[in-house]
Amino acid sequence: MIIKYTAPLRGELSIPGDKSISHRSVMFGALADGTTEVTNFLTGADCLSTISCFRQMGIKIEQKDTHVLVHGKGLHGLKAPSEILDAGNSGTTVRLLSGILAGQNFDSVITGDETIQKRPMKRIMTPLAGMGADVTSVRGNGCAPLQIHGKKLHGAHYDSPVASAQVKSCILLAGLYADGITSVTEPAVSRNHSELMLRYFGADVKTGMNMGAATNSRSELSISHPACADKTGFTVSVSPEPKLTGQKISVPGDISSAAYFIAAALLVPGSELLLKNVGINPTRDGMLRVCRDMGADITPLNEDHSGAEPCADLLVRSSHLKAVEIGGDIIPTLIDELPVLAVLAAFADGTTVIRDAAELRVKESDRIAVMAENLSRIGCPVEATEDGMIITGGRPLHGAVIDSHMDHRIAMSFAVAALACRGEMDIQGAEIVNISYPGFYDDLAAVCRKV
Ligand code: S3P
Repeated sequence: MIIKYTAPLRGELSIPGDKSISHRSVMFGALADGTTEVTNFLTGADCLSTISCFRQMGIKIEQKDTHVLVHGKGLHGLKAPSEILDAGNSGTTVRLLSGILAGQNFDSVITGDETIQKRPMKRIMTPLAGMGADVTSVRGNGCAPLQIHGKKLHGAHYDSPVASAQVKSCILLAGLYADGITSVTEPAVSRNHSELMLRYFGADVKTGMNMGAATNSRSELSISHPACADKTGFTVSVSPEPKLTGQKISVPGDISSAAYFIAAALLVPGSELLLKNVGINPTRDGMLRVCRDMGADITPLNEDHSGAEPCADLLVRSSHLKAVEIGGDIIPTLIDELPVLAVLAAFADGTTVIRDAAELRVKESDRIAVMAENLSRIGCPVEATEDGMIITGGRPLHGAVIDSHMDHRIAMSFAVAALACRGEMDIQGAEIVNISYPGFYDDLAAVCRKV
């Protein structure tokens, strides 16, 4: 894919459905009684992998483009898959599904593509083992394929060392099949789509901030489950064996996909772009906050807080950006946006420091190493650190040959960079955007052409 500077971004664009919410709508719909109707479902390859895994376990799922009907069979309605479950490139599918599979009365094996087979799964195997689950890494390297012997699980508390929605959701899903309350404390709040959607389907999910034993009298902040009372952090608990009921779900646009258009409109002078129906859940909106700190002109319009997931239209105008520091508790709320934020930093005045983001090293690629490599290729001074990057922005940058390392977010980040660089950008492995945004290049071309 060769991309070169075109014109200001104008007009409006509807952003495809949120990837995290689309996955969960199929999973929770399958475990509910009755039909779940999903609109604006993301048809990216990752979410299609989730659909195909549940079809293999006997769930009837009708999909016509972005409209999906999941005919749920209840919490105990899955049947043993006759073949290995294939999650493709999707970490969310492997990790969340493992939580469900651990509590079934059948055995299964789940794996995925080459990248998935290198991503860490101990982070879910350890807490699942604490609940009595039997999950082993077939090659003994802590990665997929995972062999899962379904078992009766125990309720447990897990103090997670990482703020990860995939780990948290895996444990909560296993908790649906446990013999008591299951809870997770994480060091900072990760995306809460599972909590919101499980509740919407009828599960008893409690959330709260634990301030440690000394401040636990702050009842509005602490949660009722005593096993969590002495832990500091953010805790979620779930009661077992809920009766989940099929629901209607209208998936908001994915803020992680909107991020590329926000960045492109900010960078290309003269741009004014309206992004329609973007999810603005506060556990996902860190990029908007950082962009505003950088001096970005982004106005939310038509905010809608009536559903479980808030959304808004975002009006973005090109802006002169300055460097910022990004670290601490905001990191989980923008973890998938850090590659494109790094691109913004490359064009901002001053030196941007990203820290506390070691999780980037275990995403679809090592996003610290890969961003540093590719930013250097376009002429940006960048230093990769253990848990982030130091990026010196503000110089004129040029097109180059970019290796996506088959990571969708790297390909899209450099498609955005191309619009603000001199010369041509040649993105190798550009087709990988299909993982989360099948029409990405068409949408980019469409808004670049409108005057
Ligand atoms: C996701 C959680 C995040 C995110 C991923 C989707 C989810 O991963 O990076 O793209 O849907 O729960 P971690 O939980 O590993 O941080």
